[in-house]
Amino acid sequence: GDEADLAARPPVVTVMGHVDHGKTKLLDAIRKTNMVAREAGGITQHIGAYQVETTHEGEDRKVTFIDTPGHEAFTAMRARGAKATDIAVLVVAADDGVKPQTIEALNHAQAADVPIVVAVNKVDKEGADPNKVRAQLTEYGLVAEEYGGSTLFVDISAKNGTGIEQLLEAIILTADAELDLRANPTMDAQGIAIEAHLDKGRGPVATVLVQRGTLRVGDSIVCGEAFGRVRALLDDNMEPVEEADPSRPVLVMGLTAVPSAGDNFIVVTDDRMARQIAQQRAARKRSADMAKSSR
Ligand code: GTP
Ligand code: NA
Ligand code: MG
Repeated sequence: GDEADLAARPPVVTVMGHVDHGKTKLLDAIRKTNMVAREAGGITQHIGAYQVETTHEGEDRKVTFIDTPGHEAFTAMRARGAKATDIAVLVVAADDGVKPQTIEALNHAQAADVPIVVAVNKVDKEGADPNKVRAQLTEYGLVAEEYGGSTLFVDISAKNGTGIEQLLEAIILTADAELDLRANPTMDAQGIAIEAHLDKGRGPVATVLVQRGTLRVGDSIVCGEAFGRVRALLDDNMEPVEEADPSRPVLVMGLTAVPSAGDNFIVVTDDRMARQIAQQRAARKRSADMAKSSR
């Protein structure tokens, strides 16, 4: 495709921050779900991706959210989230303040040159001090507008649902002011695997984020060293969909193996081509591994 085929696409927003500061609860508040209650030990262990609709100045706008774990063990997932994103929402609990994974997360976002919106969460709690969070973050180059800087801070309570509209507003303002988000929806799809696993009933499944083009049921795809024909696509409510356009996260069924999170995917002309590319990649990886072990 050429320039003329470019169309506006929704922003991809990664929610990052220290463990238990309320990232998943925030997404629950936005989506009106209750994922937090279903997590083992209340700890997020995988990246999840969801698309929501909101209105901005009377227009329907979509925003894609990527939820990342805050536990210190999951650095790689935070780094991956920062790479696949357009905007980072840094969640900081107002009763706890800036913590090690807060700093790690903002370092990932700054390294990826991604604009940051700060959500100061848990303002409903006793001992919450949202201004202290603002003061702490100035040390890391995030200076609130009300302190003369250019970073948008929004006080929220994911528990009570306060500040959520303002946060969505801040995200869309940032996207419109700082980013020119476009992609060609007519080409063969390309994107990135966000999460993948072997499902007992469905076989290998991968949550992918479409970055360019449109992914369709029946497409032949290669994802890392895995390949296959798309048998079904499920949206973030596990409802079947026929296709997924740019910035849309979707669960792909029909792969012959489980790809790695972070693998790129491409649509190719047919199954034979998909198999060939996957086999070439696997062979290249084997020889690279052999070279490594003989050193
Ligand atoms: P990890 O993904 O494991 O890093 O945690 P998280 O950042 O996703 O935090 P989570 O959403 O799991 O919330 C942690 C705890 O804080 C849960 O018990 C939530 O109910 C609680 N919580 C989240 N937001 C708020 C809030 O605004 N106010 C109050 N009082 N509690 C909150
Ligand atoms: Na948690
Ligand atoms: Mg979580």
